[in-house]
Amino acid sequence: MINESTIETSIAQMFGDLKFNREPQGLYAPLTYMMEIGGKRIRPRLCLTAYAMFKDSFTQEILAPAAALEVFHSFTLIHDDIMDKADVRRGMPTVYKKWDENTAILSGDVMSIESYRLIAKAPAQVLPQVLELFSETAAQVCEGQQYDMDFENMKEVPMDEYIKMIGLKTAVLIACAAKIGAIIAGADEESCRHLYKFGYDLGLAFQIADDWLDTYGDTGVFGKAIGGDIINNKKTWLMTHALHKGGKLEAEGSIAPRNGRTGLLEAMGMPIGDTEERTAKINRVKEIYDALGVGEDARHEIIRLHANAMESAGMLGLSGEKYGLLQSYAEKLIGRTK
Ligand code: IPE
Ligand code: IPE
Ligand code: MG
Ligand code: MG
Ligand code: MG
Repeated sequence: MINESTIETSIAQMFGDLKFNREPQGLYAPLTYMMEIGGKRIRPRLCLTAYAMFKDSFTQEILAPAAALEVFHSFTLIHDDIMDKADVRRGMPTVYKKWDENTAILSGDVMSIESYRLIAKAPAQVLPQVLELFSETAAQVCEGQQYDMDFENMKEVPMDEYIKMIGLKTAVLIACAAKIGAIIAGADEESCRHLYKFGYDLGLAFQIADDWLDTYGDTGVFGKAIGGDIINNKKTWLMTHALHKGGKLEAEGSIAPRNGRTGLLEAMGMPIGDTEERTAKINRVKEIYDALGVGEDARHEIIRLHANAMESAGMLGLSGEKYGLLQSYAEKLIGRTK
């Protein structure tokens, strides 16, 4: 059976072997930069883990498609950082900051094409299915990113709209990673479905944890600036829930308006011209979050979604050892500090 250390070794080798040594440098250097500074690589790891539920060793048939998921993901981050005006990622300057916006746009474009080159290395008999899933997922990520931006300009969004948005921008790619692992391993349709759902619920939990870390994380560990979501008026889980909870408590008269929905709406309009103003806005929103206890509520929601994911894993009828691989993967994912 494949174990965690086999997965780690294969991931290290996969990215060690991945090279973008082409001209012009100005186009390809950012790809190498993004891949070398590396992230947590949770998507290829899940793809390999899902594959390991059905196979006993890794071959090129799974390694290239698993790498494709990380290359595609890293491409989305290059563009996301322009959209979110984020200066730091993976503890390093973002591509548009290190180079410039035009470079980040075009390098991102070629990176998405490189991800297709890799996914196309899936075995011929499953290639149409894998390509269709990958393409559908890629389109959904763009849809989610558009909702994410649209929501910046809305006062408030219903929680189910928020969940739909993060389902698209984040969860479908994680779900797709699990399902591609299963498809290439030749799993039956039902197992593919359970693994997709496993990835999807974990993906939702992962994004809520990301939202939580954006406010409460340690920037040195997280590798991104803290408070960026607050500055951008992002409708994160915290903000979405705080607006609803704050509105309800305010209406009941159990919380002062300045610590409820009224306070939040005012805070979202605070100026962000310089560092001092930005810090003031972040602190003000945090103060309301703390008064409402939304950080705690987020942790509970993450645990609930994790339980849902494990329920799907339980339907696979796996041996204890194999189930343990999924369990350990899921625990690491929701316990993230970076
Ligand atoms: C960041 O993804 C974007 C989200 C979906 C939250 P990761 O947290 O997986 O980023 P890296 O790849 O580890 O840097
Ligand atoms: C990003 O969500 C999701 C995608 C890149 C598709 P975020 O904007 O929250 O991700 P981070 O926090 O910048 O990594
Ligand atoms: Mg974003
Ligand atoms: Mg972002
Ligand atoms: Mg984020």
